[in-house]
Amino acid sequence: MSAFAKTDALMARGRAFLGSEHAILCGAMSWVSERNLVAAISNGGGFGVIACGAMTPELLDGEIAATKALTSKPFGVNLITMHPMLFDLIGVCEKHGVSHVVLAGGIPPKGSVEAIKAFGAKVLVFAPTLALAKKLLRSGADALVIEGSEAGGHIGPVATSVLAQEFLPALADEFVVFVAGGIGNGDMIAGYLEMGASGVQLGTRFACATESIAHPDFKKAFFRANARDAVASVQVDPRLPVIPVRALKNKGTEEFTAKQIEVARMLDEGKVDMLAAQLEIEHFWAGALRRAVIDGDVENGSLMAGQIVGMVKEEEPAADIIAKLMVESEAALARR
Ligand SMILES: Cc1cc2nc3c(=O)[nH]c(=O)nc-3n(C[C@H](O)[C@H](O)[C@H](O)COP(=O)(O)O)c2cc1C
Repeated sequence: MSAFAKTDALMARGRAFLGSEHAILCGAMSWVSERNLVAAISNGGGFGVIACGAMTPELLDGEIAATKALTSKPFGVNLITMHPMLFDLIGVCEKHGVSHVVLAGGIPPKGSVEAIKAFGAKVLVFAPTLALAKKLLRSGADALVIEGSEAGGHIGPVATSVLAQEFLPALADEFVVFVAGGIGNGDMIAGYLEMGASGVQLGTRFACATESIAHPDFKKAFFRANARDAVASVQVDPRLPVIPVRALKNKGTEEFTAKQIEVARMLDEGKVDMLAAQLEIEHFWAGALRRAVIDGDVENGSLMAGQIVGMVKEEEPAADIIAKLMVESEAALARR
């Protein structure tokens, strides 16, 4: 019998859906989730997902090929719905016979789910409301990820615990649902599985895995941080929209607030028009995640991190993190 019999049983649908040993996804993290981390996660029994982010189709093509060279296990590709070349990127996934595509960042545009399913891949989607989740699942999406505001990166306004109570009872009997946001140990995984989740998705916990190419200074910032340091960006002026991002507080996050106040003042004084003002806000963070992850600029770059960052204390191989999560989940279920 498997050492993880109880967890395996609760993860059965998720494992069958993903084709992985455990229904633990490492959520795509732009710049971090590239060939090395993705392959390490999948080789370690989890399910890795390449973050396409703003990559061109050529770059994605190379990244998928390189990942395939490092693992024979299944992995997915995360595409951002507002990418101007979304359908070309889907074409690249088709060329490589990618088995799972995650559509993130917004409602999937017309025809995108169909285009992915047409070559036999499974489609995972996010949805901000239960009504929309039902609509997407009934119109062809194969699985749903619910992601709460504890998560790192771009976030919605509602906590994972609340989303789980709202979405799982309504959907989990009929559909495959993964829970993401604020998961740091196996006890939490066991809890969501018992509530009906088919599996879980973690990001922050894996960002500093040994195989992650994130800069040593980026990792050091994670090891030092507490939960309260991972804050959501705040919109200062109702006229200047800000999509909330959860990241570690640094000089950049402070300057972003100051920038919003400055641009709002310029707008009041008629020195810029609305479009120019909004673009200035939108462009503030351009390239900022890359600066932090790749260049190690932890002062001015964006240190996207979830609140669970307080539990990330050292570099560990991805396979060890996954094994630890499974042991903890199984122990938690055994105690019930
Ligand atoms: C550094 C970082 C970058 C991320 N980039 C993306 C991304 O490009 N696309 C995406 O769908 N989610 C992105 N996420 C969210 C993760 O895929 C995952 O859902 C989230 O981290 C889960 O919550 P947790 O951080 O509490 O584990 C990112 C998260 C982090 C920490």
